[in-house]
Amino acid sequence: MTALGKLIRTTAFKLTLFYLAIFILFAASLLGYFALNTRRLITEQITATVNGEITGLSEQYAQGGIRRLVIVVDLRSRRPGSSLYLVTTPTGEGLAGNVGSLEPGVLDHPGWLETSYRRLDAPEGNDHRALVQVVQLPGGFHLLVGRDLEERERLFGIIANAGQWSLALVIVLGLVGGFFVSRRVLSRIDAMTGTAQTIMAGDLSGRLPVAGTGDELDRLAENVNAMLERIEALMRGLKEVSDNIAHDLKTPLTRLRNRCEQALRHASGDADYRAALEATIAESDDLIRTFDALLLIARAESGQARDNMTEFDAAEIARDVGELYEPLADEKGLALTVEAPVAAPIRGNRELVSQALANLVDNAIKYAGPDSSKLNGVAAEIVVKAGNDGDRITLSVADRGPGIADADRGRVVERFVRLEQSRSAPGSGLGLSLASAVARLHGGELKLEDNHPGLRSTIALPRAGPAGAAAPTGSTGAAGTG
Ligand SMILES: Nc1ncnc2c1ncn2[C@@H]1O[C@H](COP(=O)(O)OP(=O)(O)OP(=O)(O)O)[C@@H](O)[C@H]1O
Ligand SMILES: [Mg+2]
Repeated sequence: MTALGKLIRTTAFKLTLFYLAIFILFAASLLGYFALNTRRLITEQITATVNGEITGLSEQYAQGGIRRLVIVVDLRSRRPGSSLYLVTTPTGEGLAGNVGSLEPGVLDHPGWLETSYRRLDAPEGNDHRALVQVVQLPGGFHLLVGRDLEERERLFGIIANAGQWSLALVIVLGLVGGFFVSRRVLSRIDAMTGTAQTIMAGDLSGRLPVAGTGDELDRLAENVNAMLERIEALMRGLKEVSDNIAHDLKTPLTRLRNRCEQALRHASGDADYRAALEATIAESDDLIRTFDALLLIARAESGQARDNMTEFDAAEIARDVGELYEPLADEKGLALTVEAPVAAPIRGNRELVSQALANLVDNAIKYAGPDSSKLNGVAAEIVVKAGNDGDRITLSVADRGPGIADADRGRVVERFVRLEQSRSAPGSGLGLSLASAVARLHGGELKLEDNHPGLRSTIALPRAGPAGAAAPTGSTGAAGTG
């Protein structure tokens, strides 16, 4: 498409044409109305004057007969101006006046009419138009009084001419204006199209240009840019996740493979093969657990899990999880206490919230064993709490272990991140990622704080129902002390 073709097809240009057409129509109607009214006014003026003269001349005739009329008409005919007079005998011979020739038959029709004539003093000139009134006087004489219409036509011509010129000017200015406006809009759209093409070619960092005028194109560009920003962040996240997954799953898979190879090479009997197979199954189970955790995180992050939202008591969750982990804590010589004295109503996915809290308790048991507590010089204990904090419900797990250094608290919630100090414990680095994703899914957050010593991890979620509606549940849940 040529540049001009593109320009003409723009909405801005079409709008200009539309307004131009409306304006022309309006201007033409106005000028037409003006011209027609002027013409009518002039005609009315002529009619009134001629009527007056006819009355006067008829009186002259009534008083002094044809002689007097001829003298008066003769006198008036000599005055300069556009007035026309003619007095004729009943047979049509001229007696007085300034009209030389008329269209044939004019004098036979008394009344008003428009006719062409020639003046007596300019017999060779052009025919002129005139508005005349013919009356038949008593005695059969004809009296004609009229006005030359040249002036009226000239005025009409001037108006028509002015109208034509101004219309032409409006059209030219309108087209030029439309052309410039369209070109400006088009150049901005072209710039946007260019950016869109680079983005489609794979460069997600491109952004639509914003002119800074705050107009509708700017608003559109700003919104599209915000959308691109979000898409870019999501794509970056996605890439990071897939990189992590590829990287972190490679190690256990390699281990699995090597174990099989070892067994093939060195196993010397059924018992060896069995042991190798059992180890392989255990390793595969770990892998499956990792995949399950990843899928769960993805579900929480995508918001899919919002379908299963119900209202439930988080205090109950704290008690259930405490009960579930009590034997494990016991086994490790840790005291696990649950403090959930009041109802903590939240609206959410019960299964996911339970899993998130379980992950925090699991970490506390795994990383804050009695040995580390002894190092810290405090009793080894884990406290699981469900409480109300303003318009938030909190589910927290506090331990007396080594805690997490300030600098590491940001990154431990990322997928597959495990701190050097805890490499010896089993795990895949997904527990806190899930807890954090679940908190975000519910419009809350996961906080990691210093428990002086130890770690206090808290999931804070919006409370369901009216604020401040905390009511005692009656049962002070304690999953026991070990
Ligand atoms: N209570 C805690 N005390 C000390 N360090 C902790 C504690 N909880 C988590 N961490 C550190 O944060 C890291 C990430 O924890 P996360 O729960 O995400 O993964 P993981 O426990 O290593 O593995 P997974 O939970 O997937 O089995 C842990 O590897 C550990 O280094
Ligand atoms: Mg964990």
